[in-house]
Amino acid sequence: MRCPKCLLCLSALLTLLGLKVYIEWTSESRLNKAYRGPHSTLPGPTSASPEPTLPANLSARLGQTAPLPSAYWNQQQWRLGALPSGNSTEVGGCRAWGTAAAAEIPDFTSYPEDLRRFLLSAACRSFPRWLPRVGSGQVASCEETDIPYLLLAVKSEPGRFAERQAVRETWGGPAPEIRLLFLLGSPVGEGSPDLGPLVAWESRRYSDLLLWDFLDVPFNQTLKDLLLLSWLGHHCPGVSFVLLAQDDSFVHTPALLHYLRALPRSWAPGLYLGEVFTQAKPLRKPGGPFYVPRSFFEGDYPAYVSGGGYVIAGRLAPWLLQAMARVAPFPFNDVYIGLCFRALGLVPRAHKGFLTTWPADRKADPCAFRDLLLVRPLSPQDSIQLWKHLQDPELHC
Ligand SMILES: *[C@@H]1O[C@H](CO)[C@@H](O)[C@H](O)[C@H]1NC(C)=O
Ligand SMILES: *[C@@H]1O[C@H](CO)[C@@H](O)[C@H](O)[C@H]1NC(C)=O
Ligand SMILES: *[C@@H]1O[C@H](CO)[C@@H](O)[C@H](O)[C@H]1NC(C)=O
Repeated sequence: MRCPKCLLCLSALLTLLGLKVYIEWTSESRLNKAYRGPHSTLPGPTSASPEPTLPANLSARLGQTAPLPSAYWNQQQWRLGALPSGNSTEVGGCRAWGTAAAAEIPDFTSYPEDLRRFLLSAACRSFPRWLPRVGSGQVASCEETDIPYLLLAVKSEPGRFAERQAVRETWGGPAPEIRLLFLLGSPVGEGSPDLGPLVAWESRRYSDLLLWDFLDVPFNQTLKDLLLLSWLGHHCPGVSFVLLAQDDSFVHTPALLHYLRALPRSWAPGLYLGEVFTQAKPLRKPGGPFYVPRSFFEGDYPAYVSGGGYVIAGRLAPWLLQAMARVAPFPFNDVYIGLCFRALGLVPRAHKGFLTTWPADRKADPCAFRDLLLVRPLSPQDSIQLWKHLQDPELHC
C-alpha cells in the first residue's frame, strides 16, 4: 500500500458519514413518531366514518398533547371532565366557572369587554323559555304537526322583524316536510327598548318563535344551537336534517332538499355540511374583529363550517349536546361547533353552493343562483325579488 495515511483518512471519513446517516435517521424517526403519535391510534380529523364517538378524554382528539401551551382554553380543555350543569341560579355552578377563569387568566382585565362578559357566563347554558305574559304563542312539537324531513332553524334577533317576515314569505314558506323555526334571545335587552309586546304578538300570530331568556348578543350565539338541540331532543327527535342559518341568508330550499335526498347513505348520518374553512388561525390584532388573546387560546382552529348557514343530520343532536358539555367554551360560535364535531370524530363536508360572504354590491342573479344552496347576506327586499324570479316558470338561463 503506497499511502497508509490515505487509507486511514478514507476509513475515518466513511465512519463519519455512517454516523451522520445514522443520527439523521434516528432523529427523523423520533420526530415522525412525536408528530404522528396522536393520529396513529385515534381516528383523526380525516376519518370519514359517519358514526360519532366520544372518547373519555378528549384531549388527543382536540390536538391537545404535551407539552401543552399555558393558554387558558388549552389548559382548561386538558383538565375538563365536564362543564358544570349550566344552571345560573345554582350556587357554585356555572358562574363560579367564569369567576375562576377571570382569576386564572393573568391579563383578563385587558380582554375586550364582550370577551370578558362571555367568559364570566360561558358555562351558564340552561335558560328558561321566554314566554309572553298573555296569550299562548306556544310552538307545537313535531308529533303534533308532522315530523319534518328538514327543519329550518333560523337565528334571528328580536328587533329583526322584517328579516323574519322575508324568510316566511320566501324560502321558509310552508312546504311539505319542511318546518320553520326562529331562534331568539330575550326581547328585553339591556338599555334597549322593550320589544316584548311586539314579539309576543308575532309569536301568537305565527307560532314559529323559540325564545329563551338570555341576552341576545353575538357572543351568546352558541346558546341558540345548544338550546335548539335540547329542544329537538324533547320535541322533535325524529327530524332527518336541520339547517341552522342566519335571518339574512337566502336558501334555495328546493335545491337543498333535492341535494339532501340524493346523499349517499354512507355519510348522510354524520352530516355537517356548508362552506368549510380548513386553514383558519386565531387573529391576534387587539381591537380587530375576531381577536383572540394568546393567553386565552393557542393553536390552529379545527376545520369548521361557516356559521352563516350549515346543515347537520338530526340524529347527531344528542351527540352534539354531549360534546358541548365537555368542550371548553369558545367565543366564536362556528369555531366552537367545529371543535365539538372534531371531538365527535366527524369531519365537515364542503359544498360549493354555500356562499356565506356574498359581496354586498353583487346583484343576486337568479340564473347564477340555480346551482347555489345558500347565500348571505341578502336584504329582505333582495330575498323577495330573487325568490319571485326563481319561481318564475318563464325563467330561461
Ligand atoms: C386527559 O389525559 C391527560 C394526559 O393523560 C391528563 O393529564 C388529563 O388530566 C386528562 N383529562 C381528563 C379530563 O381526564
Ligand atoms: C335551576 O335550578 C333551580 C334551583 O335548583 C331550579 O328551580 C330551576 O328550575 C333550574 N332552572 C333550569 C332552567 O333548569
Ligand atoms: C349572555 O346572556 C346571559 C344571560 O342573559 C348574560 O348574563 C351574559 O352576559 C350574556 N353574554 C354576553 C357576552 O353578553
